[in-house]
Amino acid sequence: MIDMLYIHPEYRGKGIGSKLVRHVESLCKTEKLFTSTNQSNLPMQGLLNKLGYVPSSFIDNLDEGDPEVVYSKRIKEDR
Ligand SMILES: CC(C)(COP(=O)(O)OP(=O)(O)OC[C@H]1O[C@@H](n2cnc3c(N)ncnc32)[C@H](O)[C@@H]1OP(=O)(O)O)[C@@H](O)C(=O)NCCC(=O)NCCS
Repeated sequence: MIDMLYIHPEYRGKGIGSKLVRHVESLCKTEKLFTSTNQSNLPMQGLLNKLGYVPSSFIDNLDEGDPEVVYSKRIKEDR
């Protein structure tokens, strides 16, 4: 589970966030990787869609009126 991804505002939109997520994928020892973001967070959802993550669940009542969308990606074949 990636808890948080944060890029300094001056360095956003340069591919650094994508690169960091790919790096975590290369280190991940489990078949699937999960992360989550607010439904209102279009930049993060764009990044996740681009890297092949799919919406897998959502959690209400963390931030009022803004569900937390849980994303997952299968990064290894079943062993
Ligand atoms: C979300 C965040 C991590 C993205 O990092 P980044 O380094 O700017 O992302 P990248 O440059 O790798 O962008 C990859 C893709 O994400 C999407 N994206 C990034 N910024 C976007 C924006 N402002 N609006 C819409 N889509 C955006 C695009 O699909 C982009 O691909 P493209 O450049 O080919 O269009 C960064 O905006 C951030 O730190 N935000 C504040 C913290 C946060 O919300 N973290 C996520 C919640 S856990």
